[in-house]
Amino acid sequence: MQLARRLDLIEPSPTLAISTRANELKAEGKDIVGFGAGEPDFDTPDPIKEAAIAALKSGFTKYTAVSGIPDLKQAIVAKLKRDNALDYKANQIIVGTGGKQVLYNFFMAVLNDGDEVVCPAPYWVSYKDIVRLAGGTMKLIHTSVESGFKATAQEIAKHITPTTRVFILNSPSNPTGAAYTPDEIRAIAAVFEKFPNLLIVTDDIYEKLSYGIEILNIATASAKLAARTVVVNGLSKAYAMTGWRLGYAAGPKEIIAAMDMLQGQSTSNATSFSQKGAVAALNGDQQVVEQMRVVFEKRRDLAYSLLADIKGFKLFKPQGAFYLFPDIAGLKAAPGWADLAKRTGESDTGKIFSAGLLNEKLVAVVPGSAFGYENGFRISYATSEAQIEKGLARIREFVGALWL
Ligand SMILES: Cc1ncc(COP(=O)(O)O)c(C=O)c1O
Repeated sequence: MQLARRLDLIEPSPTLAISTRANELKAEGKDIVGFGAGEPDFDTPDPIKEAAIAALKSGFTKYTAVSGIPDLKQAIVAKLKRDNALDYKANQIIVGTGGKQVLYNFFMAVLNDGDEVVCPAPYWVSYKDIVRLAGGTMKLIHTSVESGFKATAQEIAKHITPTTRVFILNSPSNPTGAAYTPDEIRAIAAVFEKFPNLLIVTDDIYEKLSYGIEILNIATASAKLAARTVVVNGLSKAYAMTGWRLGYAAGPKEIIAAMDMLQGQSTSNATSFSQKGAVAALNGDQQVVEQMRVVFEKRRDLAYSLLADIKGFKLFKPQGAFYLFPDIAGLKAAPGWADLAKRTGESDTGKIFSAGLLNEKLVAVVPGSAFGYENGFRISYATSEAQIEKGLARIREFVGALWL
């Protein structure tokens, strides 16, 4: 079958490949511990569900305006004012089916063939493929566990040129949980200010899940940059609403209008009653978010303490999101490593580790190469403490055996 050439630009989602294999093993009756999924294990809070049910019952089941219903746009404007001290008008907001689709529309709206997009690595898995589909080329700033998986303002300055089109900022980050301090954001903003043609997209999807660090939006840090920054956020992670497919962007009205036009020729509006649920989420009691954040922080501490002293791991303590990203380059020195590589048939460090761990210890994690960092893997601790303890004990045993 002949298919479009653009498919050669992208890869099947490695996170989905891991979950497919994990599900196959589960179906065979195996006791799998899943650390693969990037979604909260909590149920969506009841008031949000009730708002959507009420919308359904009242017949709110038709097409809406492509860019979102007015009351949701107002709720987003109010949220950005309340949480981020940012001022937007309704025509600077677009609602889409998840942060992912909003990012897709953003890159389709601003990139021409060959345009350069700069992004620190490790990066969220979909940025690279979305940028490529939109004709762009990714230029990575490689960070390390030693630098807390963050790019400094100086490193960023070295990677941007006057022709760079977009910089992607994601703090707290998927897959590392790294978060920039307000001072770091201000220093980075000062660099961006020197490049007047640069657009900034700040993916704030984990904004509400931070642990002891203040999250400052780059558009808040610099009024000059606000005019060329697109803020992307969504309901999935903060309100446990992954399946509702609700995300949004705020930014310059020309870019938002272009995204609106693209969306009007693809998905049209986000689901009508999901939008009503989102209004309830954003306008309702924010204690529900804080309650989940507290649980995530406890799990972060537990998972970190259980992994901290494993031989061959270098571990960074994340300040946000719900991921841990051990660097495992040190494992290549373990006597059992070469044999593990042979058993799995894989060639990069993270893939050897992840495949071996799944096949031999029934624990699903995501190899670092999915995020542009081969010597690592990602654990999602958005699961119960019992599962965290069980899975991490298996990882400890698995690694212990490599050193025998
Ligand atoms: C960094 C980051 N951005 C965006 C998204 C998109 O989330 P959604 O499309 O569910 O809003 C995700 C989801 O995993 C993510 O981790």
